[in-house]
Amino acid sequence: MNKPYQAIPDIEVLPAHFPIPGAGFLPVNAFVIKAKEPVLVDTGMGIESEEFMKALGLVIDPQDLRWVWLTHDDADHIGSIHKVLEAAPKARLVANSLAVLRMSTAWPIPMDRVYWLNSGDSINVGDRNLTAVRPPLFDNPTTIGIYDNKSEAFFSADCFGAIIPSPVQNIDDVTEGDLAQGMISWASADSPWLHMVEPKVFGQALDKIREIDPKMILSAHLPPAQGKTEHFLEWLAKVPTSTPFVTPNQTALEQMLTQG
Ligand SMILES: [Fe+2]
Ligand SMILES: [Fe+2]
Repeated sequence: MNKPYQAIPDIEVLPAHFPIPGAGFLPVNAFVIKAKEPVLVDTGMGIESEEFMKALGLVIDPQDLRWVWLTHDDADHIGSIHKVLEAAPKARLVANSLAVLRMSTAWPIPMDRVYWLNSGDSINVGDRNLTAVRPPLFDNPTTIGIYDNKSEAFFSADCFGAIIPSPVQNIDDVTEGDLAQGMISWASADSPWLHMVEPKVFGQALDKIREIDPKMILSAHLPPAQGKTEHFLEWLAKVPTSTPFVTPNQTALEQMLTQG
């Protein structure tokens, strides 16, 4: 985990960077929305759960949390969910019903604390509405991003992620070329189905984000990005016709192991 920081005054980032050998670092962010009813968005990676809970405690007393919103049930988003629910007894668990069903195969979920949302549904958290929005790219069918109508930020889950050369807090510290390449590769690797989609059809999904016109993109896998939405949409539009990302194979693993 890295030190928490503010994206904007009422949104805190709980950042981590997962090293990807030979490629760089994948940012892994959770967020705290300091709404009237405070919200934690995702719960980091299990491998650094202790550090995650410490970082969370620096930003808010977990007892004050009223909502824990899981954008989906992938391991890098639910790493501390048990500890968080224990430390935040007043918080409801917000997720897509399928995410709750899938997680129920691993641990007993307190169903009386659960709140189910589909894309298009909203919750009111006192000073703002948070609306579930399925991002144009996702690696898990339970994915719901969040549009926050007060900050006008879009919490985009895995969408708009990028592997970046080194950990940074400020997205402007990544060159535009590295960022574009990182985002296009990540999109191809994380949502390989995109190569089966007609570019025009995918363009319509991108247009839905254009219509929302978020001021800020808060991806789980990118530093906070203000005023860059159109750029990002243009980059993603190139992915269906780009060369598909190929994951490293056994030869690559053996090379890595001998290089130590
Ligand atoms: Fe994911
Ligand atoms: Fe993820």
